[in-house]
Amino acid sequence: MFASCRNPGLLILAALLASSGEMVAAEPDRPSLMIQEVPEAMRLRGNAAWCNDPDETMRYVFPYPVEFRAAGYVWSAPKKDGSATELGVGVLLTKAELKGDAASAWETGYLVAKRFTPDALNSTFCACEYASRGLPGGPVVLSDYEVATVKNSAHLPFAEVCAPSARYCPSDNHTAFEVMGAAMTEVFTDCEYISAAEASKAPYVEGEAVAFSATATVEHGCMVLPLIGFLCIAVGLAVKVRRVLKQDDVSDDAHEGYLSIE
Ligand SMILES: *[C@@H]1O[C@H](CO)[C@@H](O)[C@H](O)[C@H]1NC(C)=O
Ligand SMILES: *[C@@H]1O[C@H](CO)[C@@H](O)[C@H](O)[C@H]1NC(C)=O
Repeated sequence: MFASCRNPGLLILAALLASSGEMVAAEPDRPSLMIQEVPEAMRLRGNAAWCNDPDETMRYVFPYPVEFRAAGYVWSAPKKDGSATELGVGVLLTKAELKGDAASAWETGYLVAKRFTPDALNSTFCACEYASRGLPGGPVVLSDYEVATVKNSAHLPFAEVCAPSARYCPSDNHTAFEVMGAAMTEVFTDCEYISAAEASKAPYVEGEAVAFSATATVEHGCMVLPLIGFLCIAVGLAVKVRRVLKQDDVSDDAHEGYLSIE
């Protein structure tokens, strides 16, 4: 299905376990994924006014609306050829820590999963995504560094689809740019905060209901019981510690780990 040259030991172990009929549990260099909240500073409605990807600018009528809700974000992009208006949804699969001042200039990053309809290939896009705002009331910038494009996966939970290719994303956009290369960057203008009621709506627009309902099984895993919640926090802390410990490894990963699953 996919290959990793980085850790032949793991591959051998996997082969051994597979031949003995056992599954390999979570791999140590991959974060566990679960739908996470969009930071409050980012719960905005705005217009996608600019994109650095010529394919995108040729395909869509700019500006088009985007709305960042608590459980993910949605966009609605009319195609230039008039054939359809693309309805998209993005969910955050790792926790987004906000750096800076929520009321003025901030940056955050996370692993994102996105899909849209219509999409003839029914793909899910997994990426390291960074959002930033440089001025209070100013434009919001979103940059995506591709991790995987998984065809024929739009009916599956986001976390399940992105898990096999998931990676610890570089700690900030600047580092990501250095180690992962060029990003697709979009600029959203006229951003205004949405109300709590609007933010609590599910992050899909009409037509995306199926895509989003498929995520139900991975949502709110930490809320079942206080005990499980406590365990989740403990695991979260362990992961965070690991992540800090792993920061030094990031540059080693610069040219590896880009998987495309067909
Ligand atoms: C995408 O999904 C639709 C609806 O489930 C299906 O009819 C279509 O064949 C799928 N496309 C591909 C390329 O599998
Ligand atoms: C990320 O860095 C690149 C390169 O400097 C820049 O073009 C882009 O706007 C940045 N993205 C964000 C979200 O700040």
